[in-house]
Amino acid sequence: MFNVDNHKCIGCGLCIEDCFVKDISIIDNKAFIKNKDCIKCGHCIAICPTNAISTDDYNMNEVINYDEDTFNINSENLLNFIRFRRTIRKFKDKEVEPEKLLKIIEAGRYTPTASNLQNVSYIVVREKINELRELVLESLNNLGEEIIKTSKNELEIKYAKSWKLMYKIFKRNPQKQDNLFFFSKNIIIITSPNDLNAGLASTNLELMCNALGLGALYSGFFILASHNSHKIKEFLNLKADEKIINCIVIGYPDVKYLRTVPRKEPSIKWL
Ligand SMILES: Cc1cc2nc3c(=O)[nH]c(=O)nc-3n(C[C@H](O)[C@H](O)[C@H](O)COP(=O)(O)O)c2cc1C
Repeated sequence: MFNVDNHKCIGCGLCIEDCFVKDISIIDNKAFIKNKDCIKCGHCIAICPTNAISTDDYNMNEVINYDEDTFNINSENLLNFIRFRRTIRKFKDKEVEPEKLLKIIEAGRYTPTASNLQNVSYIVVREKINELRELVLESLNNLGEEIIKTSKNELEIKYAKSWKLMYKIFKRNPQKQDNLFFFSKNIIIITSPNDLNAGLASTNLELMCNALGLGALYSGFFILASHNSHKIKEFLNLKADEKIINCIVIGYPDVKYLRTVPRKEPSIKWL
């Protein structure tokens, strides 16, 4: 429930104006939240000039007042940060602190979701990463065999061959090479019934990795393997409506980039 403290409310109407679902009205010069169509977005909490609104649905201790010095990033730095971000495929043999993994997930938690459903979940795999690695490589190997038998697509066949080789190398000596998780010891799997919600959260997770001095890699190989393997879904103990949308491999980078990279010109239509 979202509630108004009538002692604090000055009846200014800012919350009413900002409420997207029109769930607030004025009664006796005070804001009144019907809690009928409320999507718990918290805009009323954020906008109230007298801090009169609270909820018992979430932890109100998390709410922080705006502070110009700590809440702003200048646009040049933000763009440079995005440009300088690189996929990392070489990690140090160094533990990532659990607090850092939790902070990375916080960046996902505060990412917007459609209708504020907040329906993105995270699976952190650390101790069982080698067991999972084997299941993923097995799934990719099976998929590779299928593709080689049936596909005429050159790129698909190239990937299929590389997955079969990855599996073969793993079976001979798991320590020799790891073109899946690159010997990282931490992955975060992002699940959701909604692809876009999970995709948006993933981007913020990756940015937070970079801000914490960590490197990250989105593993499309993992996503593909998991969609083709009951064993992986069982291993991860997924709920019926949980869909694996992304997998981020995380670790301390053992590579140093000195500059940004060029990109295609953007494809933009101005109408
Ligand atoms: C959805 C997605 C899936 C990816 N999957 C893999 C992968 O399985 N293995 C890998 O080595 N790189 C993977 N990448 C990394 C891309 O190859 C990389 O982002 C691209 O080459 C550009 O390099 P940059 O991220 O350093 O800018 C993936 C990237 C994205 C966005």
